[in-house]
Amino acid sequence: MPLQFDLFTLLPEVCLAYTRESILKRAQEAGIVEFAVHNIRDYAEGKHQITDDLPYGGGGGMVMKPEPVFAAVETVLGAEMGRVPIILLTPQGRLFTQAVAQELTQHGRLALVCGRYEGFDERIRQHLATDEISIGDYVLTGGELAALAVADAVTRLLPGALGDPTGAQDDSHASGLLEYPHYTRPPEFRGWGVPEVLLSGHHAHIERWRREEALRRTYVRRPDLLARADLSAEDVRFIDRLRSGAEAAAGPSRGDDQGHG
Ligand code: ADE
Repeated sequence: MPLQFDLFTLLPEVCLAYTRESILKRAQEAGIVEFAVHNIRDYAEGKHQITDDLPYGGGGGMVMKPEPVFAAVETVLGAEMGRVPIILLTPQGRLFTQAVAQELTQHGRLALVCGRYEGFDERIRQHLATDEISIGDYVLTGGELAALAVADAVTRLLPGALGDPTGAQDDSHASGLLEYPHYTRPPEFRGWGVPEVLLSGHHAHIERWRREEALRRTYVRRPDLLARADLSAEDVRFIDRLRSGAEAAAGPSRGDDQGHG
């Protein structure tokens, strides 16, 4: 059964455009996911189908009215209300991480509700949403980019979505570490080489090199991640060597001639 995403938005074309390309497109064709994009305005009453209004108590900006959002979600989910997570995209939500993406793959269907304007009427949060997600500590003009980020990160975790048997298992954050550096042909570009070990064909050495580079990169760029990562005794020894300076923490610097010595 495909994982079904229902996106509720005032900008359906923006959402559809992204779902029609690349991995999301292929995952739909392969029956791994389905996308249904719903225009909240279609569920607004009256000649003008208004979806926003002034905030009670005054102040700037407009607020998304509750009626069209409730009507859209309740109509689309129907009898599945109560069984499907209804996720608001908002800067006030819990922070989206790879672990949250992994958690969301466990559901058969996900409703993603995008806000525009200054925010949602609080009753949407309290009485309709079952979850709220933020993709980072910054404010976007609307939830669409956030909903697409969530749909994309969840989809690529589903078996078969990447068309590669190893799937997303080596991605940055998959193991709690940043990913190791990648190289492809040519073996020398503008005098910059490729680390010898990658050309050696020695799989155990390549695996160890990749692991150490992932550890080194995480130690330098995101030491906060190391505390939560899944580390072997050998990993811990390597990090101790980085800390003590016995291993160069930065690795080869930009512009250095890598792989020639
Ligand atoms: N809507 C506006 N800003 C957002 C953010 N950072 N994450 C999720 N939804 C948003």
